Amino acid sequence: MTDDIVLRLTDVVKTFPGVRALDGVQLEVRRGEVHCLLGQNGAGKSTLIKILSGAHTPDSGEILWLGEPVRFASPQTAMKAGIATIYQELDLVDGLSVAENMYLGHEPSSGGFVARRAMRKGAAAILARLGHPEIPVAREVGKLPAAAKQIVSMGRALSREARLLIMDEPSAVLAHDEVQNLFRIVRGLTEQGIAVIYISHRLDEIREIGDRVTVLKDGRTTAANLDAKTTPNRELVSRMTGRTIEYVFPERPPARTGSPVLLHVDGLTLPGRFADVSLKVHSGEIVGITGLVGSGRSEVLESIYGARRASAGTVEMLGKKLRKGSVNAAVRAGIGMAPEERKSQALLLGEPIYRNVTLAGFTRFARGGFTDAGRERAAAEEVTRGLDLRPADVRRPVRTLSGGNQQKVVVGRWLLGGTKLLLLDEPTRGVDVGARAELYQVIRRLADEGVGVLLVSSEVPEVLGLADRVLVMREGRVVREAPAGELDEDTVLDLVMAGSLLESITPEGTAV
Ligand SMILES: Nc1ncnc2c1ncn2[C@@H]1O[C@H](COP(=O)(O)OP(=O)(O)OP(=O)(O)O)[C@@H](O)[C@H]1O
Ligand SMILES: [Mg+2]
Repeated sequence: MTDDIVLRLTDVVKTFPGVRALDGVQLEVRRGEVHCLLGQNGAGKSTLIKILSGAHTPDSGEILWLGEPVRFASPQTAMKAGIATIYQELDLVDGLSVAENMYLGHEPSSGGFVARRAMRKGAAAILARLGHPEIPVAREVGKLPAAAKQIVSMGRALSREARLLIMDEPSAVLAHDEVQNLFRIVRGLTEQGIAVIYISHRLDEIREIGDRVTVLKDGRTTAANLDAKTTPNRELVSRMTGRTIEYVFPERPPARTGSPVLLHVDGLTLPGRFADVSLKVHSGEIVGITGLVGSGRSEVLESIYGARRASAGTVEMLGKKLRKGSVNAAVRAGIGMAPEERKSQALLLGEPIYRNVTLAGFTRFARGGFTDAGRERAAAEEVTRGLDLRPADVRRPVRTLSGGNQQKVVVGRWLLGGTKLLLLDEPTRGVDVGARAELYQVIRRLADEGVGVLLVSSEVPEVLGLADRVLVMREGRVVREAPAGELDEDTVLDLVMAGSLLESITPEGTAV
């Protein structure tokens, strides 16, 4: 083994009750490289990094870290050894400040007291190094947008001397320019000799930032140390899935004339978030909204759904005005929503998959005061089969599913029927390339059945490929509306680029 190799895993196995999550994994990481882990949802990527970060212990196998065999008993020991991890589900403490989060567990002290001033200064210096000096170190983390939270999480890793930084789908919460900033940071770290393990479902990112790629499938290494720049997509995808998949969007039907307007939003305004948003969604139509994180896209969806109360403007479903700020009214009018933050907003993590899927149409499965569990399960099974959920056993608690599979459950809930208008916020976040195509088909099929879909995505090709009509938002306003066929990626990026995340975290957000 050369001195350059900082980490080597041999035959690592990890089982959970009923699941062999890792079934003999090999991995080798060099000093100063970006090593990408690729694999379908449920392949074992997050489990592998949880073993490296001390969150799980392996059943068997060998881990050599800096030439020594190790087994980390806790995240603290891994951190002390120089391995820092940014998880797929961010694990910051919402109630603590930015600085407190960054120094949690190793607060600088003086004379037995936490040296607050030193801590804040240190935090500010790290944020500046990360290119985000505008994030206020005293602000409660829970009040920051998702992209800023991630920067804080990265800052926490840097507040210790890390020699290996592990990132589990960091780009899933970032918009285009934020991803570029992340890559700049990563390059700075690797130049200092720090090794990075990078997980992403986006192949273009792996090409841009990665040096080598290891592919996992069903808990095994199916290819190791491929060249990240030159290995063809075809090969990566077939190593991941065992088949070749074309990354295609379902065919767009010809524009229907005369289908009824389902949703009519007029002059909707939420101070500090967005202003004067007007749009229509027809039955059978997919309308996409794109723009940067912080441009107000998600808030528009949440206001239509009644989860936020707009200060001005109206929302009409089939000609009937909806009561403002009432989710109940929206649901009764046939509106369903798959939100962006699945963990906090959408899923009952301890409950089985079928319960989570049938939640929206729950009353349909009630009989004389009891729920008909058999029927409930059968209905859920049908839905999840269409989404290629793994493992396919609907009795498993959602907590035990991989990130991408949890996302499928959130979307699956609205496929049971009864929804007239579906609001989808980043529906394919964390979903692998194979399952994505299936999800697109499912969404288009719903539209073909007459459902209207309003979709938010920061992936511009996804909006252009899937939607019939596209709205581009910048700093809380719609700056362009056009049929998807009339826009291309460059035009959209030019339109959105004038704004940025930074403006959305000015004090109490009065920017708009
Ligand atoms: N705590 C747990 N209990 C039971 N099973 C689990 C647990 N954690 C993970 N699993 C299972 O282990 C397998 C691997 O999951 P893992 O989260 O590592 O996948 P992943 O490659 O990160 O997928 P994704 O791309 O969707 O994030 C899956 O079948 C998952 O359901
Ligand atoms: Mg994962």
